Amino acid sequence: MPASYASRFDGISGSAIRDIFRLLTNPSIISFAGGNPASSALEPELISRLAQEALAENGVNILQYGQTEGYAPLRQSAAEFFRHNAVEARPDQVLPLVGSQQGLDLICKALINPGDAMLVESPAFLGALQTFKLYQARLVPIEMDEGGAIVEDIEKKIIAERPKLIYLIPTFQNPTGRTLALERRRRVARLANEYGVTLIEDDPYCDLRYRGEALPAIKSFDQGDNVLYLNSFSKIISPGLRVAAAVCTDEELMRKLIIGKQSTDVHSPTLNQAIIDKYLRSGLLEGHIKQICASYAAQMQKMQEMLEGFPKSVRFTRPDGGIFLWCELPKGFDATKLLPEATKRGVAYIPGDHFFALPGGHHNSLRLNFSNASLESIEKGMTLLKGLFVDQGL
Ligand SMILES: Cc1ncc(COP(=O)(O)O)c(C=O)c1O
Repeated sequence: MPASYASRFDGISGSAIRDIFRLLTNPSIISFAGGNPASSALEPELISRLAQEALAENGVNILQYGQTEGYAPLRQSAAEFFRHNAVEARPDQVLPLVGSQQGLDLICKALINPGDAMLVESPAFLGALQTFKLYQARLVPIEMDEGGAIVEDIEKKIIAERPKLIYLIPTFQNPTGRTLALERRRRVARLANEYGVTLIEDDPYCDLRYRGEALPAIKSFDQGDNVLYLNSFSKIISPGLRVAAAVCTDEELMRKLIIGKQSTDVHSPTLNQAIIDKYLRSGLLEGHIKQICASYAAQMQKMQEMLEGFPKSVRFTRPDGGIFLWCELPKGFDATKLLPEATKRGVAYIPGDHFFALPGGHHNSLRLNFSNASLESIEKGMTLLKGLFVDQGL
């Protein structure tokens, strides 16, 4: 007899995410599908040294049960680190997480009842959309343009839909690479304060800037503790260590997040938190980020140069950083239907449809990742992709 599963799983297959991981592990396919850092950006020797140092200095404490609130030295070093992004927080306002994905889960656990409205960018990160759907949120898309989410549309929908949460990825957005303009950051913070809506600022790409001036986080304009800031060490140090942190200046919400986390995993693995803490205190991170930014900038440029050689009817974003480009083919093309043929030819991407809260109407879009492909693979993979699209009549 089949199990009677919870209704929160109705309509959720998880297949998009599973397919992406499958495409990433097939070595014969050039994959622009994931969101992984370059293998060359990972530093097993340094991480091993930091782990040994941490264990030598504080081993018994690290191997014992820890506090749900997080490893105290990391709360302090992360609070310090976020200052470069204009986020001011005390260590007790920083909650280490098992990836920012856990932050998305915990904030929903704290605030969302089935049917509650949430505003999400259109398109938005598919891992976040899946989490929000599991909590049975009613997702309301926000319109975007080249300057990110459109503030007038956010205000209109706050009034009409009374959302519990607004979810924004303001810098080098996943999937489009777009960045929320400075004045819009100020205005969305004001809207969150004025209407008393919690705004999730999910900011894992802010340090991957290849040109232009860094922008202060939305959180830096938050006058009423309505902005929950999430940042992750996945893209700049290692996704496998699963260390991220939330900055929550609302004490009551912080208590709820901690209780929610306690029931999920008691606490984040202390050794991983200690490794990230050591890295932050080592003085090496700035140089590492500069190095990966130089490679990723060249990879992005290569991918854009290749796209410039596509027929002019293909439109694509031109971000100042991050790890993704977003492409739109002429109407009538279906990136989902073309994916099996693309993988047969040896190249993979993610069809754009997966990034929209409401199905339909976006078949002609796709997301391309450039951080985990060499210049040579980008040239080869993009040539394959162009060949496929041209053969389909582009
Ligand atoms: C916008 C965004 N938020 C959150 C995550 C999850 O990151 P983490 O590895 O910190 O869980 C990702 C990963 O791709 C992302 O793109």
